[in-house]
Amino acid sequence: MTLLKREQIPVVGLDFMNHDHAAAAEQINQLDQLIRQTQKGDKASQQQIEPLLKEIYAHSKHHFAHEEAEMKRVNFPAYECHKGEHERVLEELTQILLQWQKNQNSELLNDFLKTTLCHWLVNHISTMDNVTAMFVGRYDHSVA
Ligand SMILES: [Fe+2]
Ligand SMILES: [Fe+2]
Repeated sequence: MTLLKREQIPVVGLDFMNHDHAAAAEQINQLDQLIRQTQKGDKASQQQIEPLLKEIYAHSKHHFAHEEAEMKRVNFPAYECHKGEHERVLEELTQILLQWQKNQNSELLNDFLKTTLCHWLVNHISTMDNVTAMFVGRYDHSVA
């Protein structure tokens, strides 16, 4: 069973974003898989969670920085608001990693994944990323 299916990820008007969003969904699905295996008592899966949480953070940072660079390039008016959301989520990812390192509580991690991260990703793409992609697309079309 896949947690985030391809068709649940909104498609926006910029390919690099769609590519990053597909990779983020893939990481979320991997984490879901590892949590499920961990909860069945699989120690090897449990040990893979920390490196994956670090990869999720690193990929998110890169993904967000690319969007922020595009917003700056075109003077996107809601830059601060969109960037602020990215920063908030990076802080949440940092906290969840620290929490995992402290107690390896798979219930808490599962709860964060299912009730926060998944919904945030889909919602963020369909709102802020979608509007940003449209703005960047129009800007590039107007100066082409
Ligand atoms: Fe994005
Ligand atoms: Fe974004």
